[in-house]
Parts: sequence; C-alpha cells; structure tokens
Amino acid sequence: MSDSNRPTVVIGVTGCVAIYKTCEVIRLLQKRGVRAKVIMTQHACGFIDPTMFRSLTREPVAVGLFDDPSDPIHHISLAKEADVFAIVPCTVNVIAKIACGIADDLLTTTALATIAPIVIAPAANVNMYEARVSKENRDRLRARGVRMVEAESGYLACGDEGRGRMAEPADIVEAICAELGMSRDLEGKKVLVTAGPTVEPVDPVRYLSNRSSGKMGFEIAKAAARRGAEVFLVTGPVALGDPAGVETVRVETACEMLDAVERRFEEVDIAVFAAAVADMRPATPASRKLKKGSDADALARIELVENPDILATMAHRKSRQVVVGFAAETDDVVENARRKLRSKGADYIVANFVGEGGAFDADDNEVVVVGADGDRSYPRLPKAAVADALFDCILGDR
Ligand code: C5P
Repeated sequence: MSDSNRPTVVIGVTGCVAIYKTCEVIRLLQKRGVRAKVIMTQHACGFIDPTMFRSLTREPVAVGLFDDPSDPIHHISLAKEADVFAIVPCTVNVIAKIACGIADDLLTTTALATIAPIVIAPAANVNMYEARVSKENRDRLRARGVRMVEAESGYLACGDEGRGRMAEPADIVEAICAELGMSRDLEGKKVLVTAGPTVEPVDPVRYLSNRSSGKMGFEIAKAAARRGAEVFLVTGPVALGDPAGVETVRVETACEMLDAVERRFEEVDIAVFAAAVADMRPATPASRKLKKGSDADALARIELVENPDILATMAHRKSRQVVVGFAAETDDVVENARRKLRSKGADYIVANFVGEGGAFDADDNEVVVVGADGDRSYPRLPKAAVADALFDCILGDR
C-alpha cells in the first residue's frame, strides 16, 4: 500500500464498450476511501482517452510498458502498489492471455507480476462469452483464486441479447471491497458461531476433550463482524482472546454449549457450528478426585453417555436460519460431507481435509463447501480467507 491511509486498487481497463461503467466503478471506490490507479491497454485507449481516467483518479494513467522514463520496471512497481488488481472491463482475449500466462503488455504483465488478489469483471458479445474456450478460461482463473464477477444477461451493445453484459458497478465494487476486507454485506444480519473443543469432566481435575484450537470458529466470527453482522460466539476453552466487536460466551461442556446456543438461535440469520464437540461425556463425573490406587476400577471403567448433537438439534428446529456444519475427514471427503448434510439437516457442510499435519492447530485449512446445489473446492488458504469464502458461498457471491 503506497498511500499509508488508503488501500490502493490498480484497475486494468481493456478495450470494450463496457468501459463507460469503469468510470462509475472508480467513483464508487473513491467514495469508500479507496485510491484507484488505472492501467489501460492500447485497445482501451481507442474507446476512451486516458485523460478521462487521469482526471477521475488524479493519478497518472499507465499504458505502455516503457512509458514512464522515471520507472524502468513500471509493471513491477504497479504490481506491488496494488492491494487488489481489478480488470474492469476484461475482454475474453485478456482473460485468455492471463489464463495462459501471456504477458505482452503492461496490463497482462502486471497481472502476472502481482501477488495481490485479482478481481475480473468480464464483458463480451454473448457468443464470445459463452464460447466453450472462454468458459474454460474463466474456470481456470477462478480455480487459481481469481474472483470473477460474472457478466449478466440482457441487451448487448452489439444488438444481441444474452449473457455478456458487464456486471453493475456496485456489484464490482462490492467484490473489490470484499478482497480488500471492506465488505459490509452482512450488515443487519445476526450470526451465531460455535468454536473450540468442549471439555467433559471425569472428576474435578480430569476431563475428556480434543485438540481443537478454536482458530477456525474465531476467524468465522471475526469475518462476520468485519462484514457488518452482529455476532454471538459460543466457545469451549481455547487460548484465544475475545474477538473485538463479538459477543463471546465461554462454556465448558457440550450441554452448556447447547444451552448457550439455544438462547440465541431463534434470533439469528446464520448459524455456523465449527466447534469440535465431544461426542461422549462421563455419565456421572466424580465429585472428588479419583485416586490411582483406590479408584483404579472406576478410572478403568468410566461410563460414557452420548452428548447432544448441537448442530443436528438446531438444524431440525430451524426456520429461516442458514445452518452450517463442519466435517473433518481423512478420506471420501465430499461423500461423507454430503451424507452429513442430509443426516444433520444442515444447509452447508464445510469439509476439511485432515491430512498428516491435521487441521486443528494450523493457521490454514483446505476445504470443500458442500451444499444442496453442489460443492465448491478451495485451495489451502489462511483460516481468515476460508471464513470469507464461506460467507461468499452463503451469500451466493460467486
Ligand atoms: O458428527 P460430527 O462430529 O463429525 O459432525 C461435525 C459437525 O457437527 C460440526 O459442525 C460440529 O460442530 C457439529 N457437532 C455438534 N454437536 C455434536 C457433535 C458435532 O454440533 N455433539
């Protein structure tokens, strides 16, 4: 971020009639305190003179790779300056070039050089947009983590009807702000999250529990709060502080967790059950510490009873709530998650691959979000990014 106070979005502009909407995208971004800098392709300059973007952004507009004599590696400095690189509008040609790694002008070179999140708002004639190769190219970029703001259907500048009209500026700005961590798309919503392990007492000093760190649930609560929701977090014992702006309730056992969840469930819009709830608890915890010698028999034969399944209980009581559960799996991840989706009555199951390192104390996670309409796979991502991806899924952003 070159400007210490404002996030910077570098906007690549390609040659397409939808370019007139780019001006509105810039204006809306500026209203939200974002600094915009523009790179244009030569074809884009055929539609609009760079003076337009220079005047709007009050920044130099870059076109040629070697235009700026004071900056011999212009594409690298622009790539580094970007907190997000957005291409608005993006032709099928430029999408194809980026999908193949072609870098033959300032815009495509910057796309390859940047490590910032990339947002692409495609626009094209319906046949060009729907062409199999164009779809495949968009899928390839999406699979690499590019946020694609799909074109809409309607009347096109060429006179045809169909998909290809660039998304509305407000939707493009929302996608860019989401990548900047500035999205407020959960404003007015209430979100309940469970996190961490539960601990089930054996006696006053011993308990049954698991290795959950609570990090995933806490990131979900933080993401919801960042995006404007009122958030209730019910967590088992973890070594994490209360997230700012989140009403946090600390519990110990599964029964206490269910009790805390029941108090809030009715009023929430989204409930995410990320806690690793102990499946069993000792039937009758001893009131005094069990001794190795004299109580050896009791210690060797702790009778267990099943804990309530909080997710299933609440999912079967839901009215308007979107209910999300987690499933840690080592194999047949998607099939197991789909089975859990049905048996628990959830709207989504986030299946995480528990590989050799496990997902419990890690800072990142590799997930597939399984819903009634299909699955969405994500590469290994920081847990904060997984949390945002989950809310994007729920809100149907992608
Ligand atoms: O059945 P399993 O434990 O694999 O399901 C995991 C999902 O169910 C998680 O979302 C977890 O939070 C939830 N769960 C629950 N109460 C239980 C057990 C699991 O809410 N007793």
